[in-house]
Amino acid sequence: MLNTSPTLRSTLGSSLRSNSLGKLNLGLGNTSAQTQKLTPQEFEEWRKYIYDLCGIYFQDNKKYLLESRLQKRIKHLKLSSYAQYLQYLKTNPKREQEKIQLFEAITINETYFFRNQPQADALVNNIIPELLAKQPGSFKRIRIWSAASSTGEEAYTAAMVINEIILPKYPTLKVEIIGTDINYAVVEAAKKGVFKEYSIRNTPPLYLKKYFRKEGNSYLIDQKIKNMVKFKTLNLYDEVGIRMMGKTDVIYCANVLIYFDLQSKIKVVNNLYNSLNPNGYLFIGYSETLHGISKAFKLVSFPKTIGYKKG
Ligand SMILES: C[S@@+](CC[C@H](N)C(=O)[O-])C[C@H]1O[C@@H](n2cnc3c(N)ncnc32)[C@H](O)[C@@H]1O
Repeated sequence: MLNTSPTLRSTLGSSLRSNSLGKLNLGLGNTSAQTQKLTPQEFEEWRKYIYDLCGIYFQDNKKYLLESRLQKRIKHLKLSSYAQYLQYLKTNPKREQEKIQLFEAITINETYFFRNQPQADALVNNIIPELLAKQPGSFKRIRIWSAASSTGEEAYTAAMVINEIILPKYPTLKVEIIGTDINYAVVEAAKKGVFKEYSIRNTPPLYLKKYFRKEGNSYLIDQKIKNMVKFKTLNLYDEVGIRMMGKTDVIYCANVLIYFDLQSKIKVVNNLYNSLNPNGYLFIGYSETLHGISKAFKLVSFPKTIGYKKG
């Protein structure tokens, strides 16, 4: 289920539901959780449970999506109702492992290389040179965090452009790039560095030729680029975990705030602000804004994009 667009995944959500309805028609019985709808009260309970865990807020019109995602787990665990599954997540000795599966089931992991080329350009043409000019002495370092990295394309894009544009000018620069995501499966996929056509479709030919090796239908990222990036699981709602990340110069938090409600956006963005070094930058997605979420940042314009700067 990796690397599918939200639209595709929504469609999948609907088709799972039709399958379930199909099974009902085939006489498999309406006591199966597969065929059940969340009652309004159950929907509220699930929505609150998920929201409290990770900030993701299922809007009313995404109820069907939540149903189809939960049904997969209910079926897998051979449970018979949404209520039983919620109880399992709250009390079963294996609940922590199951939360990993829940996060995998409910997150949308759409991403690809060079998803935001203007941000990549701003990073290497403006932001990194500016930050390095402010660092005293000859020992220079830069730390970049892709805070909802999914399968790693955003973090690896930063590594490639830094290797191509920055490192020739600053050969002794220490570069640290970290990708984190709540979904364990995508983090493991990111570590492997093996991608499908979908991920590389927006990659400039120079980068595709230089930094990928094709094997069958897969594209393997260059070992040097792989070595520049570390991945781990992290829930953006985990304040302690975020503090433990330490200070960072550039944070990407793109295309994830859209799944949160206003309160969780405010909380997460505030924590990210605190994680930035002075003069550090936050990047969010094309269609996202911090309007109404944070006034702490200074908006800085770059060609075809903006960055949010910590003053
Ligand atoms: C649509 S992808 C965006 C990937 C990448 N940032 C990009 O823009 O291409 C959103 C990612 O956010 C992750 N996510 C959702 N809620 C999260 C949370 N509370 N903490 C960390 N990651 C989360 C999902 O697992 C998913 O991989």
